Amino acid sequence: MKSKTEIVEVHLGERSYRIEIGASLWPQIPQYLGEHFKPGRLLVISDQTVSGLYADQLSEALAGTGWQISFHAMEAGEQHKTVATVARLWDEILSSGCDRKSVVVALGGGVPGDTAGFVAATLLRGLAFVQIPTTLLAMVDSSVGGKTGVDMPQGKNLVGAFHQPSHVMISLDTLDTLPQREFLAGMAEVIKYGVIHDPGLFEFIEINLSRILAHDHEACIRMICRCCEIKAEVVSQDEHESGLREILNFGHTVGHAIESALTYQGILHGEAVAIGMMVETRLAVVKGLCDDSLSERLGDLLLKTGLPIGLPDISPDNLWTRMLADKKSRAGHIRMVLPKSLGQVETFDDIMLTEFEQACLLSR
Ligand SMILES: NC(=O)c1ccc[n+]([C@@H]2O[C@H](COP(=O)([O-])OP(=O)(O)OC[C@H]3O[C@@H](n4cnc5c(N)ncnc54)[C@H](O)[C@@H]3O)[C@@H](O)[C@H]2O)c1
Ligand SMILES: [Zn+2]
Repeated sequence: MKSKTEIVEVHLGERSYRIEIGASLWPQIPQYLGEHFKPGRLLVISDQTVSGLYADQLSEALAGTGWQISFHAMEAGEQHKTVATVARLWDEILSSGCDRKSVVVALGGGVPGDTAGFVAATLLRGLAFVQIPTTLLAMVDSSVGGKTGVDMPQGKNLVGAFHQPSHVMISLDTLDTLPQREFLAGMAEVIKYGVIHDPGLFEFIEINLSRILAHDHEACIRMICRCCEIKAEVVSQDEHESGLREILNFGHTVGHAIESALTYQGILHGEAVAIGMMVETRLAVVKGLCDDSLSERLGDLLLKTGLPIGLPDISPDNLWTRMLADKKSRAGHIRMVLPKSLGQVETFDDIMLTEFEQACLLSR
């Protein structure tokens, strides 16, 4: 049976756009582009891995449509999400030719997505761009919401701009080549949406886990669609992260501290978020905000998914210092999004080191 294409609208006034989710959407790209733009230059920014896998598919889909395509591949990996890569892409694209009507396509995971988005935001003071995410993380998180940017030696994502895409196209067939470890890391973000906003989604994952892990198109479309709806709703209400958007950080305050303590080696972002969600949920239990059954249920699902939940050998002090240095901390207080029940979270800035130590102890 052919699964149908789902559409999620991101309502942002004149910057509104659509997310289309389907089993294989390549043949429809000319139609999407035609709805928004006149054929001109199409600047496809990708990483070398994804470009090797999908550049031909994109070229074929656009053959004979009048679009003049150029491919610009960066090296794969977070270490290349830098100003140096952006400068090289600016140079390459300006040399090969572009104008205000050129359209950037971000093809790949969050790394080329964030980088391409920033190139689009800055080149000729802003070009339109289309996201074609190819990792689960990018499908449910980074391709939606308009945060673009690169890392600095001082920290991740410190230079960037808000620049919304004109369209997001999620073609599930790209997940077939994605290493399963990367897929599972994306599942941590999916499970996060269930905890922060949607008990129904959490339950859907519990019930359909084996189908999801086998990339069953119908189950994955439903799951990804729901995540995009939640992200779209949150972003529509708080485009520039002055309030509500903060809830998306559940699991990330501790997760980022873990990644930083491990110098980003040997652990994927989603894996750190899985552990972060566990520690933060246990902290909520320690603070008396929620019942122990929530941390048990979450731990159970993360484990069954194949994600790590045990805190690596890093001292609570070490994590605490890193959390205090986080750009989201304010006036010496660590801000953390903690669950009160499944689907309901709240931001707290009254967390005490002793409580955090206790939560870490429970998470070993
Ligand atoms: N802008 C945002 O709102 C936002 C939100 C969350 C995360 N992010 C950013 O996203 C980045 C992480 O994204 P990611 O996890 O997608 O990493 P990534 O883009 O590095 O992709 C992970 C790996 O998978 C490979 N890959 C991608 N798609 C593939 C496919 N279909 N088949 C085979 N291999 C494939 C890539 O080459 C890479 O090696 C981080 O830089 C993070 O800061 C941004
Ligand atoms: Zn994340």
